[in-house]
Amino acid sequence: MSERLSNRPPGPTQEQIDEIARRFLTTTEMVAEARRKLHPHSWDFVAGGSETEATLARNRLALDLWALRPRVLCDVLQESIDTSSSLLGIKLRIPVIFAPVGGMTMLDPKGALGPVRAAAQFGTMTFISSVTEPDIDVAALEADGRLVLQLYIRGDADWVDAYVERALKVGCRAICFTVDTDAYSRRERNQLNRFFQQTPLVTGGRTGVMSAAGREHQERFNWKDIERIRKKFDLPVIIKGIATAEDAKIAVEHGVAVVYVSNHGGRQLDHGQGTLEVLPEVVAAVNGQAEIMIDGGFVRGTDILKALALGAKAVGLGKLQAWALAAGGEAGMGLLLHLLEEEITKDMMLMGLTKLTQVDRSVLAPAQPHTWPTALSAFPHLDRFR
Ligand SMILES: Cc1cc2nc3c(=O)[nH]c(=O)nc-3n(C[C@H](O)[C@H](O)[C@H](O)COP(=O)(O)O)c2cc1C
Repeated sequence: MSERLSNRPPGPTQEQIDEIARRFLTTTEMVAEARRKLHPHSWDFVAGGSETEATLARNRLALDLWALRPRVLCDVLQESIDTSSSLLGIKLRIPVIFAPVGGMTMLDPKGALGPVRAAAQFGTMTFISSVTEPDIDVAALEADGRLVLQLYIRGDADWVDAYVERALKVGCRAICFTVDTDAYSRRERNQLNRFFQQTPLVTGGRTGVMSAAGREHQERFNWKDIERIRKKFDLPVIIKGIATAEDAKIAVEHGVAVVYVSNHGGRQLDHGQGTLEVLPEVVAAVNGQAEIMIDGGFVRGTDILKALALGAKAVGLGKLQAWALAAGGEAGMGLLLHLLEEEITKDMMLMGLTKLTQVDRSVLAPAQPHTWPTALSAFPHLDRFR
């Protein structure tokens, strides 16, 4: 597959881009199309969480527990609305980043190439998982410098160093270590579907996250390794999977550039807190000494504004990215970013805001949840597509 992808397959034509934009006026339609198109077992793999799926539900619940406080008569000419933010010194047209997603050839034959290209063209960023196609060498050619390598540890220090050197060589902006996967969780949907027996996710002979080979290196990976890598390489380090103030503080002490608040979209430890619930304590612990990113349940413009209001610089998309890719391929990824930009712009206008620096805690008020939280509860009209 890497070889096939290394010949830089063409991107979508303008006709295809227009066609996708006509087909999907809303993200709801993209999710519905992904559900229609994907094999039910693949759908479950993407949409599901671990064990009881409490963490997954709490990600959504944490978002629903805040309401927005609109201000009016603020002179919010649409052309003057600035939705941009930045991370690692890179300007982001909207504060939305594609989170690392493994095994993306299950969603689109070009794997992560669609997200990488769409993010570069639009003006945001992609984290590419070390367990997806294509290789970073291929992805970097399409990324316009807007790429971060997310690495699962499957070898010793020499193995890790060789990977970091490769990331440096191809121009990745940072290296991201995902640290919430010391055990591969029990994802009951996949087990009930016998998903891994029938559909191996490991492609091209590379070691997937669910492969046992080399897992002991991930299990033993610790803060001393972070310290070693930080000292040895001139490449910003991102730790993904921080879920407590205690670990955020240790990350800062280790000179981490970005503290990435995440619980893997509820796919790892079950009965954890929602990420937005954890964000304020992390922000306090980091105390301005690192940038903060978050993911977990974010699918709407209003969700993104809530994260910013509580101190995040940018928001990662996992499941929504996967669904848009399955629904519309590379053109779908571009459309997803445009739809979110439109949501954010309109939400800002309706809140009386013209720049994201105006978004702070004062725009939020505690609220009662209005619906039962699930991975799909932010898409209340999905039932029409059954
Ligand atoms: C299908 C799928 C595969 C994923 N693979 C990875 C991965 O390879 N590496 C990683 O760090 N996180 C991975 N994640 C987690 C995402 O990066 C992200 O933390 C999570 O999906 C965010 O929650 P959300 O799906 O509610 O947006 C994956 C998520 C999904 C849905």
